[in-house]
Amino acid sequence: MTDNRPTIVLGVTGCIAAYKAAELARTLMRADMRVKVVMTEAAQHFVGAATFRALTGEPVATTLWDDQASARVFHVSLAEEADVMVIAPATANTLAKLASGRADDLLSTTALATEAPLVIAPAMNVHMWRDEATRTNVETLRSRRAIVVEPESGELACGEVGEGRLADVETIATAVIAEARRTRDLEGVGVLVTAGGTQEPIDAVRFIGNRGSGKTGFAIAEEAARRGARVTLVAGPTELPDPFGVATVRVTTAAEMRDAVLGAYADADVVVASAAVADFRPKAASEAKIKKADGLASIELERTSDILAELGEDRGLRMLVGFAAETGDPVPSAQEKLERKGLDVVVANDVSVPGLGFASDRNRVTLVWHDRVENLHEMGKKQLARELWDRFAKRARAAHEERTHR
Ligand SMILES: Cc1cc2nc3c(=O)[nH]c(=O)nc-3n(C[C@H](O)[C@H](O)[C@H](O)COP(=O)(O)O)c2cc1C
Repeated sequence: MTDNRPTIVLGVTGCIAAYKAAELARTLMRADMRVKVVMTEAAQHFVGAATFRALTGEPVATTLWDDQASARVFHVSLAEEADVMVIAPATANTLAKLASGRADDLLSTTALATEAPLVIAPAMNVHMWRDEATRTNVETLRSRRAIVVEPESGELACGEVGEGRLADVETIATAVIAEARRTRDLEGVGVLVTAGGTQEPIDAVRFIGNRGSGKTGFAIAEEAARRGARVTLVAGPTELPDPFGVATVRVTTAAEMRDAVLGAYADADVVVASAAVADFRPKAASEAKIKKADGLASIELERTSDILAELGEDRGLRMLVGFAAETGDPVPSAQEKLERKGLDVVVANDVSVPGLGFASDRNRVTLVWHDRVENLHEMGKKQLARELWDRFAKRARAAHEERTHR
């Protein structure tokens, strides 16, 4: 049976308030979340792993060095599984580690490795909370988009009175659930994504290809499915496995991609065309392998059909998202593409920047809309997928509603 509940990785650190994490785990489970607990060594001085194991029905992770835990590298699998990671309570020590990117135990390593939203609920003595080092760490984490659930004022375990008491469990749970639920904003929307490059045969064994890896498109399709969309992914040749919950159609050439896209178009409210589709193909591909001795002085090329332009002619009420990969400033050609093909937005990137774009796990893109240009900072492709849907979801849902009520 497939478990469709969002997975919350709950990190527990060494505070007296650690026992409240048990109540948080229960609250999240009541809201139909799957909870997986990671504890620091210090946390285990305050509460036992057995408590969380019994409450959550899941193994509790406490160390990087557990051979039993999984055949996969544990912190990476937890980081990938997380739809939201929450650290509650978070010690001053753990805040400092996260702010400086230290990864010397399972909790901090998982927090660093995950691309899921991170919710942090600190708890500590009032002087520790007010200390400039802690203030700086909290601001650093906020600037990296961590959601900090501020501690409350009141009587502290150390006997003092002031800020530092762990926020109410309900408040923390609300922040976590909001992050997890944010992900259902594409419920029922039909999404068609193209991804990867294409291969245009020269002969039986050779082809003209490109460096499109499919990573961005696969992440976009997976994220859309996670948010409740009905997703079809038309993918060029890539090693990537079919994303969970996505109807994946594998193709090789631009012509096959066009056929698959047109076949799925009727049902699509949104098309995200991230594939690097060949613009040219050999005019005549030889069915046999061309022998080296026979030589090949030149390859005559012809244009492939422009799939997105074709879709644009019959767009109806759909939302159309194009991609533009250029060497150098991609904005002018993205603007031209936006107008010419009748798109809603173009995701543009400069593929000449080392370490970004094609085949890399990271990217830095610019969104070119009709009325504005928006520069996003560099990020992992999964996070990028999230940020893109954060921006597209409203328009996508409107397209879905208008099309269903016609
Ligand atoms: C009884 C006791 C209570 C503690 N309470 C807190 C606390 O509320 N907040 C905090 O930041 N540190 C607290 N500490 C200190 C942390 O446990 C200590 O900094 C530890 O190294 C944290 O490790 P961790 O961040 O890996 O869990 C407490 C220590 C003890 C012995």
